[in-house]
Amino acid sequence: MISESILEGEKGRLRPTEERDLPRFVEWLADRDVTRWLAAMGEPPTLEDERKWYERRREDPESVMWSIETLEGRLAGNVELRLTPRAKRAEMGIAIQDKSLWSRGLGTDAVRLVLRYAFEDLQLNRVELTTDEENRRAVRCYEKCGFTREGLLRKHRLIDGKFGNTVVMAVLREEWLGSSE
Ligand SMILES: CC(C)(COP(=O)(O)OP(=O)(O)OC[C@H]1O[C@@H](n2cnc3c(N)ncnc32)[C@H](O)[C@@H]1OP(=O)(O)O)[C@@H](O)C(=O)NCCC(=O)NCCS
Repeated sequence: MISESILEGEKGRLRPTEERDLPRFVEWLADRDVTRWLAAMGEPPTLEDERKWYERRREDPESVMWSIETLEGRLAGNVELRLTPRAKRAEMGIAIQDKSLWSRGLGTDAVRLVLRYAFEDLQLNRVELTTDEENRRAVRCYEKCGFTREGLLRKHRLIDGKFGNTVVMAVLREEWLGSSE
């Protein structure tokens, strides 16, 4: 589903994804600098593909998604929690798709907002993610937010003809509670 909650951070805000966001996503997802880090991405989506993706997400009760924007209201990307309710856990996926906004703290801010929502509002027990080991910016961002490296899936992804390792990271509820006191 598209979250109806607006979450205000220090650098940006999370707000419901709207249909008007989709053309920008399509534009950004045609850029290999952005998509090389996104394991789930195949060919760049068309606007029609993106509309179908948006409809699927809207109807999926096990997905919670927001768009990320700057405090000035400039669209930057999106973030999603994919829930496994029976285990009280979720997998997080984030993309600041506007690469001119990378490394300004927007991702860290968004991840912290999502973690607070996951543990306080959804009462989850664990938030996990996987990322490319070479995605140093992402790994650093997640570590700053309290994620712990749990493992390494060796030669797990094939990117531009080269096998790469995938890092598994997670934050447990007790760790988050301990750090937010
Ligand atoms: C990964 C992503 C969410 C991080 O968000 P961001 O706003 O760019 O990152 P932040 O500024 O919050 O934090 C990045 C940190 O990594 C550091 N960093 C940046 N490039 C780095 C590099 N090459 N090596 C090591 N650290 C690096 C930054 O200095 C910063 O750390 P600091 O605050 O200690 O200085 C965002 O860059 C993004 O979406 N990228 C494209 C898609 C993607 O990679 N998605 C994640 C897939 S798992």
